[in-house]
Order: sequence, then C-alpha cells, then structure tokens
Amino acid sequence: MSKDWWKKEANGIPQIITELPGSKSKKMHDNTSKYVRGLSSQVKLFPVAFKEGSGITLTDVDNNRYLDFSSGIYVASLGHCHPKISEAISKWANKLMNCHDFATPVKEKLLEKMSDVLPKGLNSIQLYSDGTTAVEAGIRAARAIGNKHEFISCYRDFHGKTMGAVNLAQMIRGDVFSYGPTRSAGYYMVPRPDPYRPVFKKPDGTIDTDAYIDFYRQFIQEATVGNVAAFVLEPAQGWGGSIFPPEDFFPKLQQLCSEKGILFFADEVLTGMGRTGEWLCMNHWDVVPDIVTLGKSFGNGFPVTAMVVKEEHADAIDRISASSSYGGNPMACAAALASIEVIEEENILENVREVGSYFMQRMKKMKENHPIIGDVKGKGFLLGMELVKDKTTKEPFDEAGKLVYQKAFAKGLAWIPAGHILRMSPPLIMDKKYADMGLDIIEESITEVEKEFGYR
Ligand SMILES: Cc1ncc(COP(=O)(O)O)c(C=O)c1O
Repeated sequence: MSKDWWKKEANGIPQIITELPGSKSKKMHDNTSKYVRGLSSQVKLFPVAFKEGSGITLTDVDNNRYLDFSSGIYVASLGHCHPKISEAISKWANKLMNCHDFATPVKEKLLEKMSDVLPKGLNSIQLYSDGTTAVEAGIRAARAIGNKHEFISCYRDFHGKTMGAVNLAQMIRGDVFSYGPTRSAGYYMVPRPDPYRPVFKKPDGTIDTDAYIDFYRQFIQEATVGNVAAFVLEPAQGWGGSIFPPEDFFPKLQQLCSEKGILFFADEVLTGMGRTGEWLCMNHWDVVPDIVTLGKSFGNGFPVTAMVVKEEHADAIDRISASSSYGGNPMACAAALASIEVIEEENILENVREVGSYFMQRMKKMKENHPIIGDVKGKGFLLGMELVKDKTTKEPFDEAGKLVYQKAFAKGLAWIPAGHILRMSPPLIMDKKYADMGLDIIEESITEVEKEFGYR
C-alpha cells in the first residue's frame, strides 16, 4: 500500500459549505448534550458533530471537510482509519475479542515488536485500555519495586483522572472540592523548567537547570520522609502547552534520581510512539526511564495502552495484581502492532523530524511578525504557540487563544484549544503542503484577532 493513501481524500480541504456549526451538527450536539455532561472545552467552544475521518481529513454531519491538526486528541496519529490498522483490528474483531490475559498469537508478536523498538532492557510490559490506568499501574509498580510510598511530580504536568493520577497533578480548584480538599499524603509537586517562564534563572535571565536540580535535592532532604518511590514527569508537557525542558535537564535529573535511589517514571502517554520524531521522547536525551507509560498514538485510536518497566524491576509487576478486563485483548494488540509496523514501513519518524523542523522554522517567522505571539515551542509534531498581551510582561492572553481557536476552526481547522497556548498535534503522516495550509489558517486567524484587540 502506498504511503500516500490519505492524499486523495485530503484533496480540496478545507471545504466549508455551511455556516458553522451546521444545522445537522447543531441538532446532534443538542440531542447528545441532553444526556452527556462534562464535555471538554474543545467541544463547548465549537460544537460540531463528526461522521467520518480518513487520514488528515475529518468530515462533519453537514459534509463540511476539515484539516485535522489534533489527531483526535494526540491519538489517531497515523491518520484516521489507516487501512492497515483498521484491517488488523477487524480481523481480530471477527476471530477472537477477549480471552483475559492468556497469550494469543497477536499479543506475542506485539510484545516482541515492542521490545525491539523500545530502549534495550525496557521490556517488562503490561497492557491496558487507557492512559490513566497505565499510570495507576506505574504508581503501584513504583511502590512495589522499592517498597517506598512517596512521589514527586511537576507543576502543570497531567497524568490522567483517577485518584492516583490526580494526586500527581494540580487539583481542580474552586469551591467544589471534587477530588477532595487536599492531595493524599506522600504526593508532592515541584516546578519544572519552562525556558520561556523560568522560576530559577541565571544572572543573564536564562533558565538555570542546575538550580532546579539543587532545589529538588534540597526538597527531597527537607520535605519528604526519605521514602520517595519515583519522580514522575511528562518528557514534554502536552496539556501544559507543548513545553520542552532545556536539553541538559533530563540527564541531570536522572543522575539525581540514581544518586538518591529514586525511580525515574516517564509518562509518555502523549509524547510516545513517534509524536516527537523518536519512539520515546526520552530518546532525545538518551535517558532510559525505569518506568514508562504509553497510550494515545500507541493504537492509533483503538484504546490500548501500556506500562513498561526495566527488566531488572520485572518481578514487581507480579506483585501488583497487574492484569485487567480489556488490557491486551486481541483487537487492541492488533491495533498496536499494526501501528508500530506502519511507523516503520512508512518511515514516519523521519517524516516527523523533517516536517517538524519545517513547522518550527515557519512558527519562528510567525513569532517575529506577530505582536501577540510570545513564544513558539515544540519538537516533531508536538507544537505550541504562546499568546501574550505584551512580549515584555509575557502576560498570558487567554481571550485571544479562545478566539483564535474558534476562528481557525470556522475556516476548517480541527484542532485543540488550551487557553493562551495554541497546541498543535497534526497526524504524523502530514507533509509540508498541509503543514503550511494549517499554519496559514492559524496565522490568518491570529491577524484577525490582533486587529480586533487593537494590535494592528
Ligand atoms: C501524559 C498523559 N498521561 C495520562 C493521560 C491519561 O490518558 P487517558 O485519557 O487515556 O486516560 C493523558 C491524557 O491526556 C496524558 O496526556
């Protein structure tokens, strides 16, 4: 099959033929909303209803066709309904749907493939059906490995929505303490380096990685009871806004962790399986974590995730009652196996590196030409633009972020809002032509918003 399978469908996008949202979308959204609550801001700000997806193209129920800059939500990374992946899932949907955690031919192949593409020694695996559950398993594994119970995680990282994962991130604030009024005992959060908004700076104003590491050392000494099981981080902050730390951060953090006997737990649910141009984002820094979680792109839309630990810690997985109802079912294994094969066969990592640096070059130019773009950031196809009211004060410009999202969506770009940081996660198959098309739409929308707010 040609790697250009998605191009025919993409021809002529974006193609907007009704007012947006169209009448069918409106009706479907309203009917759905009678029952379903807790919709994401992505839907609330632009309530369309989709009926089809193919490659980088999404079609709504009024037949408007959009360019996809979100991959679902960092999920359908090899394009919607990739023929090889859909075929692999349907084969097992007709053959064997579930046999708990017994071995199957497709699971055997997947596990062998995973141990091929993951860093050497990172090969003790358990499979799950969502990212949060994989993170929970990682927390249990970390406790079991060292018989320790404390965890350190970072401001503005996100790890999912069950109780353990919620303890690793910022609690929802406000007058409803939906997650409980306080974090559970033994969970701590610390700042992590954001080069645009450093907490610890050198005298010249640039970020000071060593000062972060020194702070963590002091924190472990003064704030914990010396029982820290793991340091848990996203390699790059996804929901936080595509924020990558300086190049020397992870090697130095790993050094600190090994000095203190603390496990290094990288939550790669969002960053893993090619999104940044490497199988694991941590590969960029040659750091092999003790525990890794995978999700989203792993099954290209089929709910399949994984928790992986280093071989030397494998026994711990036997002590956490690790299996689940759906984890590793044959359809899920088929989706993950086919996704890995597509990444290899279509040279996806190379495409992500090449088109990713093209994205970045163009975004840097946009930053020069726009008074409200304070910063551009990212690696590969995990990209962000930070909108600010003033480039000197760096005051976040949330109102502009929301408007740019809506305007660009109305021009046919299906993407993700995040307050003042515009986040982009296009399908990894995308070429420069469509990268430009999406950025043109965003740039046009930013210009309109700048005019509305009196910047032009
Ligand atoms: C880094 C990270 N970890 C965990 C999760 C939770 O994954 P899921 O929504 O599949 O439960 C997410 C979801 O966005 C994530 O970005």
